[in-house]
Amino acid sequence: MKAFALILAAVAVLSAGQALAADNRQLATLPPAAQDALREEMLGNLLAINEILTLMAAGKLKEAGEVAEKSLGQSAMGKHRDKPLDARPGPHMPPAMHGIGIDGHRAASEFARAASSGDRERALALLPNLTGTCVACHYSWRTR
Ligand code: HEC
Repeated sequence: MKAFALILAAVAVLSAGQALAADNRQLATLPPAAQDALREEMLGNLLAINEILTLMAAGKLKEAGEVAEKSLGQSAMGKHRDKPLDARPGPHMPPAMHGIGIDGHRAASEFARAASSGDRERALALLPNLTGTCVACHYSWRTR
């Protein structure tokens, strides 16, 4: 059983490697300033995910919900609104790509509501949706 799981994992890694080698992802062309703003936001996303997982593991649901809403949820939308147009990632994304981003904000807010209410089972069940949209976008789109 364990060997089977290992083989499955190896196949998954190999096929992921192949997908990257061929890089079948669609290219979204963003102005350099928008690309910079996106990368900065992404590093923040990575920090936020790590913080949320750490808080969940420590049983600090309310705090995990707060971080999720503030950093990744719908409250975090429109962060680049005051920047010049060429420094705003959203308006330059193809609608399908932008849609994944918006889905991610919604998923984070849904998780945040469950976590803030102290419903551990529901928060845990919704947790994978937080990383699911990161993966969905990264595996479909590239900017370079
Ligand atoms: C709507 C699409 C989209 C979503 C959703 C998304 N990303 Fe990204 N991410 C990108 C793109 C495009 C880049 C590459 C930007 C570039 O370098 O031009 C990127 C780059 C990154 C990077 C590399 C930053 C660097 O150092 O250059 C990290 C880390 C990252 N994303 C984390 C995340 C995490 C964590 C999530 C989920 C919470 C997430 N991303 C959700 C599109 C997305």
